[in-house]
Amino acid sequence: MKIVTSIEELRDQLSGQLRTAFVPTMGNLHEGHLSLMRLARRHGDPVVASIFVNRLQFGPNEDFDKYPRTFQADVEKLEKEGVYVLFAPTEKDLYPEPQEYRVQPPDGLGNILEGEFRPGFFVGVSTIVLKLFSCVQPRVAVFGKKDYQQLMVVRNMSKQFALPTEIIAAETYRADDGLALSSRNMYLSAAERAEAPVLYQTLNQVADEVRSGHLDMFELEKAAMAQLAQRQWKPDYISIRKRADLQPPSAGDLAKKEPLVVVAAAKLGTTRLIDNLEI
Ligand code: PAF
Repeated sequence: MKIVTSIEELRDQLSGQLRTAFVPTMGNLHEGHLSLMRLARRHGDPVVASIFVNRLQFGPNEDFDKYPRTFQADVEKLEKEGVYVLFAPTEKDLYPEPQEYRVQPPDGLGNILEGEFRPGFFVGVSTIVLKLFSCVQPRVAVFGKKDYQQLMVVRNMSKQFALPTEIIAAETYRADDGLALSSRNMYLSAAERAEAPVLYQTLNQVADEVRSGHLDMFELEKAAMAQLAQRQWKPDYISIRKRADLQPPSAGDLAKKEPLVVVAAAKLGTTRLIDNLEI
């Protein structure tokens, strides 16, 4: 595997490649990321991964400085997955000057749910993803469904800017007890790790209620949040949304059996976890 840091070296390595499959990451790779690499391999060749902890998508009180950086271990994992190039730019490589041009997702998608609780997050994500796409010029790029809203923001951006990159969605990779794998799981204490699968269990309960004909979404969401709060979680939201645009379903949508997803974000101790489940 070639490890490159500058955009020029990356372009040299990839010149003439027309079927590149790309997986952007912030490192601290776990099985979930590796499953994205495997899916990428099925959709293109060569596979290119990036590791870059993107300051633009972290709020002032978020964990940019303490975000886990495990470069050497990440390199070994990517080598085993047959990744051809790892693009690991420094901040100076990607932001040699302040990034003044930014991508602003529409309010109706970028400022709801995660965007409401993490202002500016999707501007930071869209800007870096566009920039990485411009460096790598991939034919396909793989994003996990674990970050459901991020996947939609990136897919819509790619479509609206007519980027030549197809966005492939990868299923969420879960531990045996149901917890969605995430780099932030490493912040959990042993007791919190034992409690953490309750988030996914709660999503399953909500989904079961909807499937069995419960139509009062607000009541279901409120009850699920109260249940988590009773167990000392601090939920930001549990919300049943339309898969198509992440807006709340109307009565008409429910009658038409519009495909839904239940999305959630909640803090356990100081660790904020997100998850979702398609209904
Ligand atoms: O999902 C992530 O790890 C990041 O948001 C991404 C897509 C690599 C952009 O920094």
